[in-house]
Amino acid sequence: MSSIANPRTDLQWVEHQFDRVAWSYPFFERLFLVPRRARDLAVERLQAGSGQCILSIGCGRGSMLPAISAQVGVHGEVHGLDLSVRMLQAAERTARQHDLKNIRLTRTDLHRYSPAEPYHSVLFGFSLSSFADPDIALQHAWSFLRPGGRLVVLDARIPPPMERITRPFLPAIRWFMEQTVLGDPDMRPLVALEQLGAPVALNTMRWGTYFVATVQKPE
Ligand SMILES: C[S@@+](CC[C@H](N)C(=O)[O-])C[C@H]1O[C@@H](n2cnc3c(N)ncnc32)[C@H](O)[C@@H]1O
Repeated sequence: MSSIANPRTDLQWVEHQFDRVAWSYPFFERLFLVPRRARDLAVERLQAGSGQCILSIGCGRGSMLPAISAQVGVHGEVHGLDLSVRMLQAAERTARQHDLKNIRLTRTDLHRYSPAEPYHSVLFGFSLSSFADPDIALQHAWSFLRPGGRLVVLDARIPPPMERITRPFLPAIRWFMEQTVLGDPDMRPLVALEQLGAPVALNTMRWGTYFVATVQKPE
């Protein structure tokens, strides 16, 4: 972990940053060469079945909602949770455009949320790395899962073989991320996932930059 102050501890700042970039977010997705397969794989790893209830934490503009909605069908529900009003407005548009009837959207900070019923699966789609403390966010989300439920994290990181090469550029990378999609180059998301105490299944893409990690809660 870096000793540099992490601005993500200030939720008002996080909300403001995501409100600011909500309209341009698809551009950054192309700039960062996010592989389409990464999102498809994350949805697949949720193993959502008909009638299930799935939570998408930091659902953003809702680009993954249509695929999850199709998996759970009309008797299931996809619950999108996000801090940013502008992101949620875009998610509402996504739901309307795709005529999705099984979507619920809630504006809240993850840490203040607790569900009435546990979820079958929970997804962090490129959102874990915008949290100040991944351990706290993951432990909280883990508590939302029913036994046998799956926690899926789709995110990006500096690939391990590149860490030494990129070290001199870290201040610039950090600055750029904080101006755009807030991905935290100092975060070690897989270390945080291992703290959950269950095996982590990992798929990587683009030389380890993008990954889908899946952890199943014991029955
Ligand atoms: C990088 S965007 C990812 C959006 C989308 N899931 C995707 O795959 O493109 C991260 C999202 O997490 C949300 N977020 C960050 N911190 C949050 C918090 N504490 N509680 C709820 N949502 C949060 C942000 O508002 C933002 O929409």
